[in-house]
Amino acid sequence: MTMPSTMRATGAPLNRLDGVQKVTGAAKYSYEYPVAGVTYIVPVQSTIARGRVSSIDASAARALPGVLAVLSHENAPRLAPPRDDQDLAVFQSDAVAYRGQFVAAIVAETLETARQAASMVAVRYEEQPHDVVLRADRGDLFTPEYVPQKPFGFYPADSAHGDVEAALAAAPVSLDHTYTTPAEHHNPMEPHTTLAIWSDDGTGESVTVYDTCQGVSWRRDDIAIAFGLSSERVRVIAPYIGGGFGSRGFTHPYAILAVMAARVVGRPAKLAQTRQQMFGPVGYRSPTIQHIRLGAGRDGRLTAIAHEVVAQTSALYEMTEPAAVPTRRMYATPNFLTTHRLARLDLPANSWMRAPGESSGMFALESAMDELAVECGLDPIELRLRNEPAVDPETGLPYSSRGLVACLREGAERFGWAPSDPTPRTRRAGRWLIGTGVAASTYPAVQLPASARVAVDAAGRYRVSIAAVDIGTGAWTVLSQIAADALAVPVEQVQLEIGDSTLPQAFPAWGSTGTASWGWAITDAAQKLRARMRDEHGGTIPPEGLEADGGFAGNPAAQQFSMHAFGAQFAEVRVNEDTGEVRVPRLLGVFAAGRIVNPKTARSQVLGGMTWGLSMALHEESVLDPRFGDYVNHDFAEYHIATNADVGEIDVSWIDEEDPHVNPIGVKGIGEIGIVGTAAAIANAVYHATGIRVRDLPIALDKLLS
Ligand code: MOS
Repeated sequence: MTMPSTMRATGAPLNRLDGVQKVTGAAKYSYEYPVAGVTYIVPVQSTIARGRVSSIDASAARALPGVLAVLSHENAPRLAPPRDDQDLAVFQSDAVAYRGQFVAAIVAETLETARQAASMVAVRYEEQPHDVVLRADRGDLFTPEYVPQKPFGFYPADSAHGDVEAALAAAPVSLDHTYTTPAEHHNPMEPHTTLAIWSDDGTGESVTVYDTCQGVSWRRDDIAIAFGLSSERVRVIAPYIGGGFGSRGFTHPYAILAVMAARVVGRPAKLAQTRQQMFGPVGYRSPTIQHIRLGAGRDGRLTAIAHEVVAQTSALYEMTEPAAVPTRRMYATPNFLTTHRLARLDLPANSWMRAPGESSGMFALESAMDELAVECGLDPIELRLRNEPAVDPETGLPYSSRGLVACLREGAERFGWAPSDPTPRTRRAGRWLIGTGVAASTYPAVQLPASARVAVDAAGRYRVSIAAVDIGTGAWTVLSQIAADALAVPVEQVQLEIGDSTLPQAFPAWGSTGTASWGWAITDAAQKLRARMRDEHGGTIPPEGLEADGGFAGNPAAQQFSMHAFGAQFAEVRVNEDTGEVRVPRLLGVFAAGRIVNPKTARSQVLGGMTWGLSMALHEESVLDPRFGDYVNHDFAEYHIATNADVGEIDVSWIDEEDPHVNPIGVKGIGEIGIVGTAAAIANAVYHATGIRVRDLPIALDKLLS
């Protein structure tokens, strides 16, 4: 596609630049790199949820031709687990902290041999009683040891102002409900995979790692720490990634195991998690129990919000699903209270999963707002308009821009929202009850430090380098667009280099920060290159070419403004009166997320998010068997997800939003907001259709048959 030089690349719906490589199979993924002499790793997983390995008999496995090594705590090299994540202390002790934990591994000449040998390893355990069930009535949850350190790394666990209890007691209208969301597992198309290749150049050992990760710089640092290497001796390569969703933001045990195995056998080694293992030691979304209390005047104006969350985490690594965090910035109220408490259970480490906190938290808050609208006899959109805050209710900072009202109004218009028809069970088509619902979306606009390099050769070809990763979101394309505009050249003149830890440092594809942060660094490097060209070379490219480094250390505006993307989602549902089946013929989302760099890839992100929101509303639930302490529906036959036939029409659009504060390109980030609010919009529509309020996800058939 050629572009007139007067036309900006950003804002154009460019096809993915990596699309052809991907659909023709030319794009290589971690497991596919051809490496001579590669060996195969298959882990042996614990069959108990808590206790000790008392003995490992691997004699039969070792005797199998083609087996190169049997690794376990008995013979593994010593490691230093990075970030104090004890889940990464692979084979460092005989302790078992969850079912499915790696307790041994086979390295063999072929995958088949490794699998067979793994099945022949006899592990004996000293089993201890396990604790795996999240219950809100556990008295111990409310002791200080269960207050998380810092949900999500930087939010305070609790936040309060005013006097919530007094305001609730005095409120003319009040509501007190508990909402729950189940454990959910993310499953990108490409399972987690690591291929590790050690080498020694005479000055010391180095390792090259092809790894399915969301951030090459982070993964490199984790591996360097674990194996006691300097960062320069670890190179992580990840040009193409088949989906992320938070599942590979953190390093998981498989990556450490692969690097360890390659070192032990002295040959390249690789490990791909099976689909069933993707429901195991790789992270998942914690279930939540959310107690929400709202107090309001009869006019619907909030006087108090209390949102108290109980979630679970593992014994090995603390991670809090920060479900009450979005509540801190949504609505104006003089009194509020938000808390997070954690149960440490004998389960695998939970982790980030698309819009951690917002997905589950906004299901609860936006369901409660709908219930308040019913209580007050107000249209739910009008209720939200009446509670629109002038400044961030928690910090008192002004918003850099806040598009919720615009999204609600635009969405109502596009959807054909009918506030005159609020009574449940009034619309039907035969045995199908019809309802509509609305909910708000939000996600923070965060920018994380990044650096980039831009070089130009005498022929006017630009090379743009940054350790960004495209996890399937379109980063290859949008970063090329941003670079082209910053350099004032067509996209064809830009060659992008990403997915390699030797490139200038950047944070992972995480928290919807990628385009905003990497794009900022690229823009800065491009401006520096143009300045050098202008000031040092009279506006021309010198024969030897030219390069410039750029980047930014953080956004000072983050101290002055509250920066978030917002959206409004609308759903139409049909509920079968006889069977309880829910169909969603229409979903509509309008988002205010700053400038949209590429409407095509952006739409795909949000379309995927909303589809997942539908899946969360109706299908997804990881079912725990408390006897074994593990999730039993660990495959796509039993873990239900929305498929094509479940998805009707999805309408995605954007509000034009100019935000000069978020970054020089005005981008807020759109990777996660699409899933936020969808489940509430659907649950609210189900209430409108049936008069049944489902407060526990998923909205399974039995919950609608009373
Ligand atoms: Mo995203 S769940 O913050 O990787």
